[in-house]
Amino acid sequence: MFQAAALSTESKSQFYRELAAQARALLEGEHDRVANAANFAALAWQALPQINWAGFYFYDGQELVLGPFQGKPACVRIALSRGVCGAAASQRRTQLVPDVHAFPGHIACDAASRSEIVVPLVHDGELLGVWDVDSPLPGRFDEEDRQGMEALCQVFLASLRVDKVQGAA
Ligand code: SME
Repeated sequence: MFQAAALSTESKSQFYRELAAQARALLEGEHDRVANAANFAALAWQALPQINWAGFYFYDGQELVLGPFQGKPACVRIALSRGVCGAAASQRRTQLVPDVHAFPGHIACDAASRSEIVVPLVHDGELLGVWDVDSPLPGRFDEEDRQGMEALCQVFLASLRVDKVQGAA
């Protein structure tokens, strides 16, 4: 059984370092995308204060499709031209949205959401999808969350790689 220890509340950077270490331990030895995404979302949901949604959208070659998440049921498909998720995916740049009502085209899956962060997931140069976290508080996410969340997503992406050489070289 995986037991997550209490995380540091001293600084956000330390909090995210510890959370990334927990995620690494949780995903270690498993490479299945759905299984790791599900556990990653569950861990983040337990650890991150003041959030109301945390989960994945995966790119199917045309649009973003809902993946493992925690929170209220969400919209299933998002075009790359739409919403905060679409912006993160098409620009391949993290979107930090302090006020979702001020973001043109924001898609409200939970009316309680006030701020949002979406990190693009790029695996071996290919767009894999996005990691999306919503909060009921305005301005919940800042630059330190961006750095911490991007580092956290690298743990997820690294878990998908099977680096071991199969067979003789
Ligand atoms: N708000 C997102 C949609 C996904 S939900 O927040 C879960 C967007 O505007 O892309």
